[in-house]
Amino acid sequence: MRRITVKGELKSAQRMTFKGMVFYVFRHVYPPAEDTFLLAEHLEVGDRVLDVGTGCGILSVLSAVEAEDVVATDINPYAAACARLNAEINGVSERVEVLVGDLLSPLREEEIFDTILFNAPYLPTGQRSERLSPIEYAWTGGEDGRMVIDRFIQQAPRRLKPGGRILLVQSSLSGVKRTLRELRMMGLRAEAVDEQPAFFERIVLIEALS
Ligand SMILES: C[S@@+](CC[C@H](N)C(=O)[O-])C[C@H]1O[C@@H](n2cnc3c(N)ncnc32)[C@H](O)[C@@H]1O
Repeated sequence: MRRITVKGELKSAQRMTFKGMVFYVFRHVYPPAEDTFLLAEHLEVGDRVLDVGTGCGILSVLSAVEAEDVVATDINPYAAACARLNAEINGVSERVEVLVGDLLSPLREEEIFDTILFNAPYLPTGQRSERLSPIEYAWTGGEDGRMVIDRFIQQAPRRLKPGGRILLVQSSLSGVKRTLRELRMMGLRAEAVDEQPAFFERIVLIEALS
């Protein structure tokens, strides 16, 4: 992979505004869409927030308006660079730390959060993770759409403070009932709390409380 520079990426970046804030979206980074906005409408986050799969960082930046401390992760290094830039230009970079890596693995061992956000890659694609380009990580959910969601559910609950909550977005094509069942098996109270119709599916927001 070539070296990522903000100057280089800005040449082909899209510029968008949301809730009065400006965001740049680099070429290999997921452009915020209906699933992002569904989650954004439910951001009451508390002091410490984890934004898994941050993309251009939009949910981290919005969270940092209220939260004292936001940690963002993404497996795509272009997304991490883009999220750092958007935190900077929106004046919240001191409260947003962006880490590159798989799901929750970049976190320090003792870290726990009031809110954990994940607009997950959820499309059933049949593709395997070792063959993906950086942008394909944004939507590729493997054979049944659950390749990333299932691993997230195994990792996230123990990172919640007592009384904390997970907000997870996925498609109706990739097993909402199964997600609710798995979250409940991890000891959380989980419900689908909102949804948005899309072309062939519903985009569903799931809330899970510790
Ligand atoms: C649907 S996009 C959402 C981006 C952004 N949060 C938003 O709502 O616009 C999913 C994001 O998850 C990231 N992602 C996919 N698999 C991941 C993994 N195993 N660990 C960390 N991030 C991952 C992708 O690179 C992508 O940025």
